[in-house]
Amino acid sequence: MAVYPQKRLRRLRHNPLIREMVGETVLTVNDFIYPLFAVHGKNIKNPIKSMPGVYQLSVDLLVEECKEVASLGIPAVILFGIPEHKDEVGSEAYASDGIIQQAVRAIKSEVKNLVVITDVCLCEYTSHGHCGMLNGEEILNDETVSLLAKEAVSHAEAGADIIAPSDMMDGRVIAIRKALDYKGFSKVPIMSYAAKYASGYYGPFRDAAESTPAFGDRRSHQMDIRNSNEAVREVESDIEEGADIVMVKPAGPYLDIIYRVKEKFGLPTAAYQVSGEYSMIKAAAQNDWIDGDRVMIESLTAIKRAGADMILTYFAKDAARLLKK
Ligand code: PBG
Ligand code: ZN
Repeated sequence: MAVYPQKRLRRLRHNPLIREMVGETVLTVNDFIYPLFAVHGKNIKNPIKSMPGVYQLSVDLLVEECKEVASLGIPAVILFGIPEHKDEVGSEAYASDGIIQQAVRAIKSEVKNLVVITDVCLCEYTSHGHCGMLNGEEILNDETVSLLAKEAVSHAEAGADIIAPSDMMDGRVIAIRKALDYKGFSKVPIMSYAAKYASGYYGPFRDAAESTPAFGDRRSHQMDIRNSNEAVREVESDIEEGADIVMVKPAGPYLDIIYRVKEKFGLPTAAYQVSGEYSMIKAAAQNDWIDGDRVMIESLTAIKRAGADMILTYFAKDAARLLKK
């Protein structure tokens, strides 16, 4: 009884109730992590031109935003900071009164039931916009790793629940783990951006975070878009170094990587639907070229279907509202 006409795959697509029963992938609000951009000042809400619906927020408004995020049932946010002053070594990244440190303290004291993740990198804080310390035009690895460990500790001291290094330096996960443990933060997990590609899809984010490199690009540390075995090696070494959650980034164009990583390691796996993925869907929807809500849900479902346990997405609030209905 294995062939047509007895076998008919359409039977299980017959009506919505049956389709609901056999749906393999279930997207829920629990899957989402909402990225937010913190700026200095009061009552500031700067729209990001290339990311409709996304804003740079001062800490007071960020707290209100986080209350709304939590009330929608979204379990976590990830914070990015825009500093007052940038310098060669990104000092504000690890200053105890830096923008992220202030934001984390405020959110943790005023918002209940929300996991606060902090992105650890230097590119938002350096005058040259690179992810690390420079020697001429070279991004130094080990010197940068020491600063990243300092940054991670200062985030944990402010109250961050999870630390997410996004820099792609070698050895940063072990260095951050050791520094956190030494300072008494052995319970703070690390979500590493383990397979992060040098991607054109980050364009709009660099408007939001004001982190476009002044010269050159990120290809000496972020991964080559052509490689997939290398992603497995990157993830493997982050796990060996102590990563608790591993991330693949971008998400939609890299579903094969998400699939391989989840299959091979079985660790909690995050995927970042990045700014360019978001903005492309938004732009097409604003032109009425696609059904924005439908493609939003389709893009997120595809990422989950590939194996992601959690999705960092600028759609988190919109998708949460839609899934509630
Ligand atoms: C910082 C960082 C970037 C993103 C997350 N963390 C930018 C970059 O690497 O240039 C991109 C996120 C997005 O595009 O939404 N290193
Ligand atoms: Zn960076």
